[in-house]
Amino acid sequence: MTPILELRNATKIYAGGLLRRRSTVALEGSYLSVGEGRPRITAIAGESGSGKTTMGMLLLGFIEPTSGEILYRGKNLAQASREELRRFRQEVQAIFQDPFEVYNPFYKVDHLLTVPIAKFGLAKTKEERREKIESALINVGLRPEETLGRYPHQLSGGQRQRITVARALILNPQVIIADEPVSMVDASLRATILEALRHLNRELGISILYITHDLATAYHICDNILVLYQGSVAEAGDVDGIILEPQHPYTQLLVGSIPWPDPKRRWGEEAIVSQGDVAGQATHGCKFAPRCRYAMDICRETRPPHYRTAETRAVACFLYRDSPVLPPEEINSVLDT
Ligand SMILES: Nc1ncnc2c1ncn2[C@@H]1O[C@H](COP(=O)(O)OP(=O)(O)O)[C@@H](O)[C@H]1O
Ligand SMILES: [Mg+2]
Repeated sequence: MTPILELRNATKIYAGGLLRRRSTVALEGSYLSVGEGRPRITAIAGESGSGKTTMGMLLLGFIEPTSGEILYRGKNLAQASREELRRFRQEVQAIFQDPFEVYNPFYKVDHLLTVPIAKFGLAKTKEERREKIESALINVGLRPEETLGRYPHQLSGGQRQRITVARALILNPQVIIADEPVSMVDASLRATILEALRHLNRELGISILYITHDLATAYHICDNILVLYQGSVAEAGDVDGIILEPQHPYTQLLVGSIPWPDPKRRWGEEAIVSQGDVAGQATHGCKFAPRCRYAMDICRETRPPHYRTAETRAVACFLYRDSPVLPPEEINSVLDT
């Protein structure tokens, strides 16, 4: 089956600094398939600067890869026709961090939901339009009569973010890419928004990429997870295995810093203090080696491949070199949970 979206050996290098002499490798040789087989919620996790947003922007066609390909239904996005791009813009929707950004304070929220319907010609009559808007609102847990006719400032942050989810939903997407959708929302409201995303996945069959630095929320709503470190996948596979028994020392570090409500969790003990130069991107060897307490000679010399430590598990770490090597283009096979 052809995935809806695919990264194939995608690398993104940003030129920056004075005279563009300093460049950042934001994503390196990345492979990922979205919307293939059973619809899933996949987390893209990692610290700030690990390349999560870059991955999402590439998949959304908002930026172009420095090398490699972004495929939409098997076709290179860079070569898509106008008609294909139009379908792409409808099938693949984005939800971003700050729900306030998309709002014009002078328009009622109705406007925000009407525009995409008009733009894509999704309703023939006023009644049909109204029906689409109401069903999208209900699907994200909002009551139309309490939402429509209001101005953005008359809604809570949680309601606003759910309206942005409803707006994405109105186009009947196959894939939603949600980049830190709850990080600007009060902690008390996060669960309801995440529940809404889960509903879209479970009930409407929408594949979701959930981009987050927060492993606890990823654990709650995702089926599988890719953990990025400096633009490379450190560990990937089913979310339960990875969060409950992280194998990569970096994932152990991340999991160790989750503020779990249960004090009996043992991960706190696994925290690894950072050592040496963290900022510098290692060109040879494992990128995490400067921070890793298990670093061996080989780690400083050779970039570790992905080792398949279980059916639904891959880890880029020499500690697992007794397991079979998983070629980079086969990383999706461990996400097939
Ligand atoms: N437009 C840009 N120009 C230059 N560097 C960028 C740009 N966007 C991101 N970066 C750099 O690329 C790396 C990855 O960034 P990003 O994908 O935003 O990570 P994340 O979403 O995980 O925080 C970071 O080092 C960041 O500083
Ligand atoms: Mg980001």
